[in-house]
Amino acid sequence: SRLWRGVIAEYADRMPAHVQQKIVTLGEGGTPLVPAPALSERTGAEVYVKVEGMNPTGSFKDRGMTTAISAAAGRGARVVVCASTGNTSASAAAYATRAGMICAVLVPEGKIAMGKLSQAVAHGARLLQVDGNFDDCLVAARKLADTHPVELVNSVNPDRIEGQKTAAFEIVDALGDAPDIHLLPVGNAGNITAYWKGFTEYADAGVASRTPAMWGFQAAGAAPIVKGHPIDEPDTIATAIRIGNPASWQQAEEARDSSGGVIEAVTDEQILAAHRILSAEVGVFVEPASAAGVAGLLARHERGLVPAGARITITVTGHGLKDPSWALRTPDGGEVEPVRVSADVVSIADALSL
Ligand code: F0G
Repeated sequence: SRLWRGVIAEYADRMPAHVQQKIVTLGEGGTPLVPAPALSERTGAEVYVKVEGMNPTGSFKDRGMTTAISAAAGRGARVVVCASTGNTSASAAAYATRAGMICAVLVPEGKIAMGKLSQAVAHGARLLQVDGNFDDCLVAARKLADTHPVELVNSVNPDRIEGQKTAAFEIVDALGDAPDIHLLPVGNAGNITAYWKGFTEYADAGVASRTPAMWGFQAAGAAPIVKGHPIDEPDTIATAIRIGNPASWQQAEEARDSSGGVIEAVTDEQILAAHRILSAEVGVFVEPASAAGVAGLLARHERGLVPAGARITITVTGHGLKDPSWALRTPDGGEVEPVRVSADVVSIADALSL
């Protein structure tokens, strides 16, 4: 059969045994690696985007949630908890409900996108809006899991990384080898950790001839790794990566340094410009945080730091429908107004200047 079975079954030989005892899957993974001619032309490189919004709940989190929830199910867990800027909670809620578990989610009040909130509620999560930011939520979630019979499914759970590393496998499988450079947004830094593990495993096994340089991008108002210290009040329109003290900070630096890569900051303006290029020229609709890798590519290209002809892959992490309001704003902050016409072909053709 050609039915995609989800990342645990598809990459069973590279998964720990304990996630395979009771597999909980929604068919995650197998996402498109889409050539992006608009970005290739701008940079003189060969650019592809890995469209992680095509996962079942609309973000890359599903790759790690199948492994985390399967492992928890194997241990007979009944309750899971996560802190989240939105996508983790949507994913945890979906996989937990599939497994018949209770899912508690802690989200920063007022700072998560409507689409993600709706998903957590729809999937029956016990949603708690916390008076604090993501970092406060994560501290509380970790304490809850330490003191109560509750499993933590944030990316500090190593099972998450095992699932998320499969995105790197898929990229190498699609291209026939590792790219020269891989770019992605960095928030709590689980995903850069996971990609680096995946690329390294494939290189060690001889499936790929090399590992790529890892280029990670934080939002300028939430760039602790770039600044070298935690940020007490992180702020960015890219709410998914509004994080001041990433849990996998050290692993992100390890990925950067071992790969000969960089972790840099991009401004909200650069993120929104990249978001527009992805939507209007590449044809891929993402949420703002997801455009940080593309913003980083364009920023480094402007500084002459993108090697001509390099093969480049960029993870765009979440679907545009998660947080669609940005598409209805003009670059100068105005509102996009729909053009109104009467229902006759003359006025329609006229309005279209045909
Ligand atoms: N992009 C999106 C759309 C995200 O939701 C996240 C993280 C990231 C990038 C950054 O990935 O944390 O592994 O470095 N979202 C988490 C959440 C924090 O709660 O949904 P990371």
